[in-house]
Amino acid sequence: MKMIIYFNESSTSSLKSLICAEFSEKKFEICKTKTSDGQATSALSPALQVDEEINFFSSNAACLYLLPIPLNDSNLLSKSSEWLEWESSKLSPAVLKSSSSSEGSNLLKYLKKISAHLESQNFILGGIAVSAVDISLWCTLYPIFQDDKCMQMISKSDEFANLIKWNERIKTLPQVQKALKEHPIKTISIGQLKEGPPSVKSAPEQKNSPDGSANVSPDMKVEVAVTEDELIFAKESWENGMKLLEKTLPDEKIILPKEGYKNILITSALPYVNNVPHLGNIIGCVLSADVFARYCRLCNYNALFICGTDEYGTATETKALEEGISPRQICDKYFEIHNSVYRWFGIGFDYFGRTTTPEQTEIAQGMFMSLYKNGFVETQTVEQLLCEKCNRFLADRFVEGTCPHPGCGYEDARGDQCDGCGKLINATELIKPRCKLCAQPPVLRNSAHFFLDLPQIEPLLQNWVASSESGWSNSAQQITRAWLKTGLKPRCITRDLNWGVPVPIEEFKSKVFYVWFDAPIGYLSITKRYTDQYEQWWKPDPKHNVTLYQFMAKDNVPFHSVVFPATLLGVGQKHVMVKHIMATEYLNYEDGKFSKSRGVGVFGSDAQDTGIPADIFRFYLLSIRPEGQDSNFSWVDLATRNNSELLNNFGNFVNRAIVFCFNSFNAMIPTIQLEAQDMNLLALINREIKSYVESMEVAKQRDALKHILNISRLGNQLMQSQQPWVLLKGTDDAKARAGTVVGLSCNISCLIGVLLAPFMPETARNVLTQLGTSLAKVGRVNPERPSFYLLLPGGHKIGKPSPLFTKIETAKVEELKKRFSGRQSTSPAKENADKLSIPELEAKILEQGVKVRDSKTSGADKSVWSPMVEVLLGLKAQLAQALKEDGKGDVTSAANTTPKNKKGSKKNKA
Ligand code: MF3
Ligand code: ZN
Repeated sequence: MKMIIYFNESSTSSLKSLICAEFSEKKFEICKTKTSDGQATSALSPALQVDEEINFFSSNAACLYLLPIPLNDSNLLSKSSEWLEWESSKLSPAVLKSSSSSEGSNLLKYLKKISAHLESQNFILGGIAVSAVDISLWCTLYPIFQDDKCMQMISKSDEFANLIKWNERIKTLPQVQKALKEHPIKTISIGQLKEGPPSVKSAPEQKNSPDGSANVSPDMKVEVAVTEDELIFAKESWENGMKLLEKTLPDEKIILPKEGYKNILITSALPYVNNVPHLGNIIGCVLSADVFARYCRLCNYNALFICGTDEYGTATETKALEEGISPRQICDKYFEIHNSVYRWFGIGFDYFGRTTTPEQTEIAQGMFMSLYKNGFVETQTVEQLLCEKCNRFLADRFVEGTCPHPGCGYEDARGDQCDGCGKLINATELIKPRCKLCAQPPVLRNSAHFFLDLPQIEPLLQNWVASSESGWSNSAQQITRAWLKTGLKPRCITRDLNWGVPVPIEEFKSKVFYVWFDAPIGYLSITKRYTDQYEQWWKPDPKHNVTLYQFMAKDNVPFHSVVFPATLLGVGQKHVMVKHIMATEYLNYEDGKFSKSRGVGVFGSDAQDTGIPADIFRFYLLSIRPEGQDSNFSWVDLATRNNSELLNNFGNFVNRAIVFCFNSFNAMIPTIQLEAQDMNLLALINREIKSYVESMEVAKQRDALKHILNISRLGNQLMQSQQPWVLLKGTDDAKARAGTVVGLSCNISCLIGVLLAPFMPETARNVLTQLGTSLAKVGRVNPERPSFYLLLPGGHKIGKPSPLFTKIETAKVEELKKRFSGRQSTSPAKENADKLSIPELEAKILEQGVKVRDSKTSGADKSVWSPMVEVLLGLKAQLAQALKEDGKGDVTSAANTTPKNKKGSKKNKA
């Protein structure tokens, strides 16, 4: 069989294999893979097929095969893989970006780097001859070298002189000329070459590295030689590691704490039911918690993962009014939405419940009664606005009127803030207040409420925080300290509402608990729905040593680090207190905010509708998890990581290992006889596993993921340096060595499958199935002794190979970008089709406001301007809704609920 190059005339990556094939002097055929509309016929066709056994899905791997790097130089090998990785993850996307948008990119910076690197040498890797690295980079830059405007521009500056010489040197090589002549390439047009925005935080520049950024391969750059101890440990583990694992936990229907195990209770913040979750919400809690729970199961920890919907409160009531159905119906509807979105994302809750249950009422009322009896609540009288027509007390955002601040007089001030002067307002001080729903003036009423006496609990709380905060994420510690520093005030925990847990005190029975009082109690009541033995988890026997991990976005921190713990301390029944608060920052969408009302971002089932598998979303979200600071979702970035890290790095390695084993060794793991250099590799892999475990234990999931990718990088280097395809054609010894390399590679693939399972459960299952095994058989990590051990021994039968990932093409990226960029697009932003965007609403309100005022000042009759006011109010209600959907939570209104009118409140201990 002749070698086949899959060729797409509008892709510079096909050019790479073509030129390298010319250098190899091997015979080959061309198979065109492009249809008339420019789409690849099959995203699954490889770049190069050598014979039935050898396929290369990554064009860079094909280049290395055709034009190998001398085997005896390991330094050269690692340099070349570093450069090639930089090419696929940075350079190539930058070229694409500069052609598809006018934003500018890092391209110019990269060109300068290459040019500077070529200062004292003719080719990228030094030496006198062109290498696969030169060809790969050159082909990627080919559109630039073809573009007269670009060339004019860069020839003006000395900085690019070496680059230009290098281009000449390569362009004139006979092999290059031949390839281009026989199979010309259509190049994309390059937009203007301009500098991209300066990166916010540039990593320290490193010498001898293609790119200054450290995020390509974090720990591989500092190569500290492996020590004797590490080698001994590696050998020991490889041979005996499997035996050292303790027995696996029995699979039990209901998980309860068990003596002799690590008992881990995991919660994810309970999402409100009045909204559809977006990708930022998903990475913030449920996905992060899921990865942690799956990791715990790998480690044989006895873990329980609980979540559910947070269903009470004003927000639900308002949503119900808006949709014209009952709060109960709203909850049922949105519970299903959340449930199905999370199911699609593969979130493996042990139980997903809800807060509107009899269990919730019982536990919340019980806890309140304990607080009451222990003297940690008090009543205060609060002045509130009541709309007699609507028969309800009005929350601040439901009142409007004239701004009371001297000199302002803005007529449409809201109950919490005036848009005219920007100052804060007490709703009760508004001049001529009106109900936002019916425009009637509300009346002032006194209403008594319960307050949680935080100042009294504060000393206990301070002690507890001091002894616990070390296990919290950085932001959680900071937010908590800021709260405690300002001193705690009593917090109102009841509301004049219908939709909530009723207050179990006779004179208060028409009131309900404030949603943030009862929401965290939801964790307990949901567990109670799961098992009536729930107290074994929440009031654990000390011998069980239950550890509580809570995942949330940062706006939820104060409720989990201050208010709820204070409640538990006040209740005084030895509830388990949170040990690890794992808080994330926010995720932005393409450098802006997610906004349901504007149709910006990926919400609910949108992700599912893209056709991109859930695992890819999981992988991408976790690799940009906003751990230390806010981060940003971008489709270009998602596609780049899919194509380079998954397809080129990980997928390429695993697929080659399995294909070799399948084709050349009869689908059986060959005998593995490790040599000294392999022990070195095991030791390097062990370092990665150790770092993986350390990161996972503290939920630094983004780091952990990098260590997995490092392992597949090491695997690729093994393949590349040993070239089993060459060995297979050699002596018996060489063939045996090929067997060891392939057997070891399959074991590394299996290891990666296991470590990846928390992140990409479907992919892990796929890899392990292809390797003829399963998570149940090999899915174990030993956190006490993190190391690589023989998973698939010689003679083990594997399954059938198939590619793991699909390339995401540029056209797809453009389509997705457009589809989720807001209403200006032609996209089906279905349910928003009839809604106006926030800026549109604001403009209309302004316009209508002017009309109303003009009409009033012209002395027109009420019958004339009153309908105009109606229109204005309608618009404002829409805007309020839009802003609310746009917002991120309830933290400010919750934090500020202290008595509004200090002078008027009388304080009497309950
Ligand atoms: N529903 C809240 C939010 O989405 C989170 C509540 S977490 C809880 O911000 F534990 F308190 F329920
Ligand atoms: Zn009203």
